[in-house]
Amino acid sequence: MPRFKTVRGMRDLLPSDAQKLRRLESLAREISELYSYEEVITPLVEHYALMDKSGTEIKTRMYTFEDLGGRRVVLRPEFTASIARLMATTLRNQPKPVRLFSTGTLYRYDEPQFGRYREFWQSNFEIIGSERPEADVEILSLTNQLMKEIGLRNYWLKIGHVGLLRGLLSTEGMSAAEQNTIMQLLDKKLVHEAIKQAESTVSTRGISALKQLLQAKGDSSSKFFKQVEKPLKGYKNSLNALNNLERIITLCKEGGIKFRMSIEPGFARGLEYYTGMIFEVLTPELEISLGGGGRYDRLIEHFGGEATPAVGVAHGLDRIALALDKQESHLKQNKKVVAVIPINAKVIPQAINLTQRLREEGIHVMMEIMGRRVSTAIQDASRRKIAYALILGPDELEKGKISLRDMKRREQKLVDYQTVHKTLTEELTN
Ligand code: HAM
Repeated sequence: MPRFKTVRGMRDLLPSDAQKLRRLESLAREISELYSYEEVITPLVEHYALMDKSGTEIKTRMYTFEDLGGRRVVLRPEFTASIARLMATTLRNQPKPVRLFSTGTLYRYDEPQFGRYREFWQSNFEIIGSERPEADVEILSLTNQLMKEIGLRNYWLKIGHVGLLRGLLSTEGMSAAEQNTIMQLLDKKLVHEAIKQAESTVSTRGISALKQLLQAKGDSSSKFFKQVEKPLKGYKNSLNALNNLERIITLCKEGGIKFRMSIEPGFARGLEYYTGMIFEVLTPELEISLGGGGRYDRLIEHFGGEATPAVGVAHGLDRIALALDKQESHLKQNKKVVAVIPINAKVIPQAINLTQRLREEGIHVMMEIMGRRVSTAIQDASRRKIAYALILGPDELEKGKISLRDMKRREQKLVDYQTVHKTLTEELTN
């Protein structure tokens, strides 16, 4: 018999992990409703060419294959390209802004390691059609609210703007392709190599400005923005980018959106389509980001649509679950479960009837279906962390009664068989 294992980099999510992931997904969906985002479900398989603008780096890490019709296809490595495709085609005439939410699995042929999987989950939010800073603020705000609702502690947002570096490098005469190489190196924290690479094109003054950008790190104060402004004198596009970033941060502050942030003008992200503000969610427990996003005003037109500004974010649900585990913080479960245990075969019909009645009332029930003795069934319920057990015995039932056992307190009382759903609802909401 061959021993079957999952394919390298792929995971089975066992009940407790699957439950956590679904809970995170449903919290993200609640946020999407709160912020009026509509869900779209796009295919897992997309054309290879769709990933053209996501960047050379990600293209080397895609699951690429030819389908039986000879088409070159990929397993989607992210949602944004699919959303841009939709906006350039089917949804092109949709009144703007369009707010879209997606969730599901993505595929990247990364080297498997802690927090880096070949199949992983994201919740993804995109606003399409607004070039205004209010849209950037909304993406930051919903990310902040989601992290709070999840119960994540000590997180901060690292924020930058690709226009700062690109403005400088293009004024210095560097081609977009060369700029992409520099951005990739910076994304991998290879700062020394990035500067070395830039030295072949960029003037001494430009290199000095670049170094200052790469070292700068600060808070939302206007003092910090003034400090970043100095070396950028003469680099008009970089100064515009800095103004835009300052406006976004000021709107967050004045709008009362509170989160810890670190503004890093030399920050770059791996994806190449970004044109404006970029950010990542970080925690001290993980060295890698829990989420990331930014503005991409040129991607939709690349797919043949009209020039359409857009900004979005994706949250890495697997990594958020890892960070929560490390923080020993548990996601609140939405429902408690009740066990229904018949003492003997005679009362099974009443047990089934009661189970049905409780489920119709929205109470989660697990019925004893192994014919085990009551003590064994109670032990099993306790192992499964069940909140209450309802025990049905023929003698009590004749008097219209059953036993309600509080599993945690190990206390038992007789309750009315007919109205037990009311008693239980009260107990469960206390
Ligand atoms: P990204 O930074 O490539 O951005 O991915 C977003 C998040 O997905 C990461 O911060 C991380 O939490 C999670 N993630 C990425 N790769 C892996 C992996 N191999 N294993 C586990 N988790 C992973 C994007 O995907 C952009 N599409 C975000 C965006 C939306 N930008 C604008 N709109």
